[in-house]
Amino acid sequence: MLISGRGSNLQAIVDAARVGECPIDIATVISNRAQAPGLRNASAAGIDTVVVDHRDFSDRVSFDRALMKQVDRHEPDLVVLAGFMRILGDAFIDHYAGRLMNIHPSLLPAFPGLRTHERALAAGVPQHGATVHFVTHEVDGGPIVTQAQVAVLPGDTPQSLETRVLAAEHRIFPIAIRWFAQGRLRVANGEVLLDGQRIPIYDLSDSGTQENLNGLRR
Ligand code: GRF
Repeated sequence: MLISGRGSNLQAIVDAARVGECPIDIATVISNRAQAPGLRNASAAGIDTVVVDHRDFSDRVSFDRALMKQVDRHEPDLVVLAGFMRILGDAFIDHYAGRLMNIHPSLLPAFPGLRTHERALAAGVPQHGATVHFVTHEVDGGPIVTQAQVAVLPGDTPQSLETRVLAAEHRIFPIAIRWFAQGRLRVANGEVLLDGQRIPIYDLSDSGTQENLNGLRR
């Protein structure tokens, strides 16, 4: 798992694995920042951590190569980008094609890139949310595994919206990883299918409803 910062998605995945909702072993957590708070979460969960600081490399290719070396030591089935804030180069993406998953805080294809909550508010959209997708060469553009939407409420600030979107991220990311681990995902014509079926967008605007929770725990 690759991180750059806070590590709340990492923690959500660790928690889901611990209670048997995500059948995975997290082999290692790699951060490009030594100060990333998420490294502490990983260590507390007994996961091996490594720092590959991008500032130690003169270009992206050599950074990516060093990162790949650390990842490949573990021969992972899946490489998870959980708040990893560096753009990865073509060689890295090709090397992990079909087994590189990212979470993005918007309903892609809307708002790729940064400051998504602020931009969603400025655009006046009624719904915002989060997307788990496979990574391809197009930044924030690969096949979508699953999405969760939340309603934008009157009076929302970027922070209040972020809080609700982050809660949605924590729900869908472990589930998407579980589906991958169970071998239930297939990409056909750029679309990800679960057990051969299209995956609906989950509405987590009222995330306490049992119906939504049941829908999510498939
Ligand atoms: C999340 O909003 C994620 O979607 C984005 O970066 C943030 C990481 O948060 N890519 P955390 O480090 O998992 O708390």
